[in-house]
Amino acid sequence: MVDLNTIASLCKRRGFVYQSSEIYGGLGSVWDYGPLGVELKNNVKNLWWKSAVYERDDVEGLDASILMHPDVWRTSGHVAGFKDSWVDCKSCNKRFRYDEVKQKTCPECKGELTEPRTFNLMFKTFIGSVESEANEIYLRPETAQGIFVNFKNILASSRKKLPFGVAQIGKAFRNEVTTGNLTFRSREFEQMELEYFTYPEDSDKWFDYWVNERFQWYKKFGMNKKNIRLRKHAKEELAHYAKSCYDIEFLFPMGWLELEGIAHRADFDLKQHSEISGKSLAFYDEEKKKDIIPHVIEPSGGVDRTCLAFLIDAYKTEKVRGEKRVVLAFHKELAPVKVAVLPLLRNRPELVKLARAIYKDLRGDFKVTYDDTASIGRLYRRQDETGTLYCITVDVKSLEDKKVTVRDRDTMEQERISVDMVKKYMEGKLR
Ligand code: GAP
Repeated sequence: MVDLNTIASLCKRRGFVYQSSEIYGGLGSVWDYGPLGVELKNNVKNLWWKSAVYERDDVEGLDASILMHPDVWRTSGHVAGFKDSWVDCKSCNKRFRYDEVKQKTCPECKGELTEPRTFNLMFKTFIGSVESEANEIYLRPETAQGIFVNFKNILASSRKKLPFGVAQIGKAFRNEVTTGNLTFRSREFEQMELEYFTYPEDSDKWFDYWVNERFQWYKKFGMNKKNIRLRKHAKEELAHYAKSCYDIEFLFPMGWLELEGIAHRADFDLKQHSEISGKSLAFYDEEKKKDIIPHVIEPSGGVDRTCLAFLIDAYKTEKVRGEKRVVLAFHKELAPVKVAVLPLLRNRPELVKLARAIYKDLRGDFKVTYDDTASIGRLYRRQDETGTLYCITVDVKSLEDKKVTVRDRDTMEQERISVDMVKKYMEGKLR
């Protein structure tokens, strides 16, 4: 398996991920996505949205605000319970999560550890012009609460009946204590969350359904089945709101770690918000003629972790004619760039004109790039290393026979295609 330093260096060099505010020394565990990173991230989000919302008739979307009334977080249990404890090593100054340190001494240098210190993971800020305690609010640590507090609004405007779900993708913020490992545990990140509301008696069945559905989703987009597994939470691990939970884990270079959690939240959130806000969040069942507080199944994935896992999973090296070839063998829907147009000569105006015309014809429907800044060998290596699916080379012969060479990233096979067939050919391949 590839190590994380190799991935981090590729991410920086090729424009997937940069550290935030790097020229000022960087901001710890906050990341910016470069030109290729943003394409990968958008692909992940679009594929999730497509499968969660467009391909179903029982899920609607939502885009709630990051800032919410502070009572939301008191009611949800986050103000009282969303805490982490950490210890510091008095010798090497390294910091560890208390729950991850098994022994009483530093896991790295065996030095003495401080007493555990606890703090709330939510970022605080102020609303309005006065910086007083009364004006304190939080940056949301999960997107889910935006769905719960809008439950009645969505029900009224969509006229959905149980079971149905609400999907949301958005930023979340956590003041994590232990960082490192690239984007794995960031302080600002994005979540893809689905709250699926069911009749209480059907909730276990839907829980099993969503665990399987989400597990299959990663495999559908090419994740190697050796690198992904399901793990059921032990009772003592469960979050304060969960009755049961499975993690989908990925084999990161640091070990098996959570990629997504699927929690059975029962009626915890809707009940709490109903009680504290005084506004009932029950569903009125016309047939049974009674109010029901639905139970909730929550598949909750991280966009950043998913991108990181797909990057690691796609990374391959092989020997081709005695030389090392690095390829990001992304599934075609995830590949940041679908086609690269590569003119072999920069100083032949007719050749450049033809290459530009092909590039312009293709762009707009999918992400296409144009590169004439190196020799063909280097241009291929660059595109392989970022996972571009097809390279189209335009050479001197193209001017005579009106054909170009299309090279497949995975097989490296090359085909001569008529210039006027290129668009159709690509549409067929990418469909
Ligand atoms: N609403 C439930 C919830 O927030 P979670 O297990 O705390 O559950 C869900 O988070 C997912 O969000 C995780 O599986 C992970 O993919 C992502 N996530 C959580 N904290 C993260 C962090 N600090 N950096 C990157 N992703 C994170």
